[in-house]
Amino acid sequence: MFLLRIVEGVVSMSTKHIDRSDLVEWANHEHVHLSKLFDDLRQTFNDMAQGELEGDALQEALSVALDDLDGALEDMLEHFNEEEEVYFQAIEQRFPQYASQIDALVCAHEEICKKIRTLQQCVREYEQPMKGGYKELSARLIALVNSLALAVERHNKEEQDVFEGALKHLSVDEQIALLEQKQALG
Ligand SMILES: [Fe+2]
Ligand SMILES: [Fe+2]
Repeated sequence: MFLLRIVEGVVSMSTKHIDRSDLVEWANHEHVHLSKLFDDLRQTFNDMAQGELEGDALQEALSVALDDLDGALEDMLEHFNEEEEVYFQAIEQRFPQYASQIDALVCAHEEICKKIRTLQQCVREYEQPMKGGYKELSARLIALVNSLALAVERHNKEEQDVFEGALKHLSVDEQIALLEQKQALG
């Protein structure tokens, strides 16, 4: 599991400290992590497209790509579940004006998971290429990973806007209570 576990009031991180009550900053920290999940995959798919991976190296790269996608899906599902079970419910209760935006964010969660599963399927096809062969599949993989990365970026931005507009209006005690609720899910 890659997501950072929050275990103390103020957690020491590589670049800065995030206060326990700053839910928006915690969300931002997790979003930065999720946005980076596909960087290595993009590089791998580009190498495949340029014919730089063959034989055992190609099989190894495919195996790593599948492991990375499994990990990315697991991280995404955990992150999305925490948001839907804790943050989204709290926002809908306290700030009903965000209801339609919350619905759109939930749809984006489903869409992102669907894209990851499509990508997993496409990588598995690469292990036994048919029809158009490697070249066609490589182009498809690159298009899929780019589309996925864009969807994640767009979703993170839209979600941060909602969090900025809603969560920041909660009291410090309320924000800490929500963070503890989120931790309890893990
Ligand atoms: Fe989300
Ligand atoms: Fe999120």
